[in-house]
Order: sequence, then C-alpha cells, then structure tokens
Amino acid sequence: MSRTVYVNGAFVPEEAATISVFDRGFLFADGVYEVTTVLGGRLIDFAGHMARLRRSLAELAMDAPADEAEILSIHRELVARNGIEEGMVYLQVTRGAADRDFAFPPAGTKPSLVLFTQEKAVSDNPAAEKGLTVVSVPDQRWARRDIKTVQLLYPSLAKMEAKARDADDAWMVENGLVTEGTSNNAWIILADGTIVTRPRSEAILHGITRSAVLRLAEEAGHRFVERPFSIEEAKGAAEAFITSASAFVMPVVRIDGAPVGAGVPGPLSRRLRQIYIEEARRTAI
Ligand code: PDD
Repeated sequence: MSRTVYVNGAFVPEEAATISVFDRGFLFADGVYEVTTVLGGRLIDFAGHMARLRRSLAELAMDAPADEAEILSIHRELVARNGIEEGMVYLQVTRGAADRDFAFPPAGTKPSLVLFTQEKAVSDNPAAEKGLTVVSVPDQRWARRDIKTVQLLYPSLAKMEAKARDADDAWMVENGLVTEGTSNNAWIILADGTIVTRPRSEAILHGITRSAVLRLAEEAGHRFVERPFSIEEAKGAAEAFITSASAFVMPVVRIDGAPVGAGVPGPLSRRLRQIYIEEARRTAI
C-alpha cells in the first residue's frame, strides 16, 4: 500500500512526491536527518531528537525548516495517516535547491523538509532473542560524526562488508578503538558488571537512546564508565550490545567470529532492553 509522505508543506502519496534535481541534499549531501521511533502509535523521546536536530542545523549554519510545534504535528499526522503502531518517522532537512555552487545559496533560500514513515516491529524483534553478530572495519567517515548528516555512504559500505562476512553489522575502529556501529552506539559490559561506552565527542553520534540508557542504568544502580574500548577488550567482555532509536538495546553475541561471553544475549543487556522499552512506553507522546 502506498504511504503518505510529507514534502515541503504538503502530504502526498509517495509516488507523487518530488524534490528538485538542484536540491543540495542530492548534489552535496548538504542535509541532516533524525529518526524517531513510534511505539503504540506514539513518539519516543521526541524532545531529544529535536534538540539534536537543532544542534546539527546550528553546526552547519542551516536554517530550521519549521518550528518544533509544527514538526511535531507533521510527525503525528504522518503516523495517523499511515496507521503506524510501531516503526519509525524519518525527517530529512537540506539546505534547499539552488544553482550548483560549493558556496552556500543566498540567505533566504528555503530549506527542504521531507518526512516519511517506515513500519517495523521494534519492541517484539526476534533479533533481540538471538543477538547480533558484528565484524570490525576501519572507520573511514568524515571527522564530524556528531552531526547527523545524510552522508551515509561509508556506513552503507561497512554494512555491505558485514553482510559479505556473514555478520549483521560492523563496528568501526579508529586508532585501535571502537567508535560506533554503522547506525548505532557500541557498548560492552565487563565481568564485574561495569557498563562501558565511548564518551560523546566529534568521533561519534550522540545517540538519544545512548543518553536514555545511561540514565536508566544509573537509576537502576548499575556501574558505568564512559571511555573508549578496543575490539580485543570487547571480545573478552562479559556482554556487548548496541543502542539506537530503531534497535533500542540489542545484544551483540559475536565479534569478528569470537563469542562474547557465553555467545548468547547477556542478562544485563536483556534487562536494559526491558527497562528501556518500559520507560519508552511510559513517556512516549
Ligand atoms: N541511526 N550512531 C550512528 C552512526 C547512528 O546513525 C545512530 C542512529 C546512532 C544511535 O542514535 P539514536 O540512539 O539517537 O538513534 C549512533 C539511526 C537509527 C538511523 O540512521 O537509522
């Protein structure tokens, strides 16, 4: 069935949606995006996604495409029109359409705004029972990964390499340390129960799920430390997992072919997934 999508002010069937060939998102990857998860027809951590969108736009000196109340109502309208109970809403903003030039277009050029939905079973995902396998690849992305840009070619290549190596995803490595997954933050749990994830910096995306999980872990009385870790350390950890809006907390059971812990989803990763989903259901708007 055809979806309804939103393009620059209008709700239209996906076949009828168009964008200029001169859009800078297409010509220069000059755009940013957000992915907000829908659970029970409601949006998880919408305020967090809007705060990160504001930051991405500010870092690139890009105008906001609409005010936040309007962006919220577009999300809700799309969820309703497409009957989404569980899934994602993607929001894409670009610097707009202008004559091709490396210099930014004149002030006043309207940003492009596109939103679309994707249905997905996020809470009842069988992958959570099985766990994911990951392989390590060098991190060859640009150096401002804290900005959520639409430049996703390297993560896409890394994902294909993971598939070619019979794994679900790739963890990217820079200077001997894991940065993050292709579209998620990377975590390990040490034998003494300490939860470890890389601190926020320009090297990784500041995951909204990552922040929520750190907060919930602390509230539940778990020890955690924000520091980088290597693939070797991760292979020897008791548990490993990833976080993202679409995966929530998802156990990782193999790294470069070696089992993590017992090679099955670990108890604390499972518990954190459960706590996160309960909190998400409770606070979604
Ligand atoms: N990806 N790191 C990267 C490189 C990501 O692309 C993502 C999100 C995350 C996790 O961020 P959050 O918890 O805010 O989703 C970390 C989204 C889901 C995507 O591109 O589909």
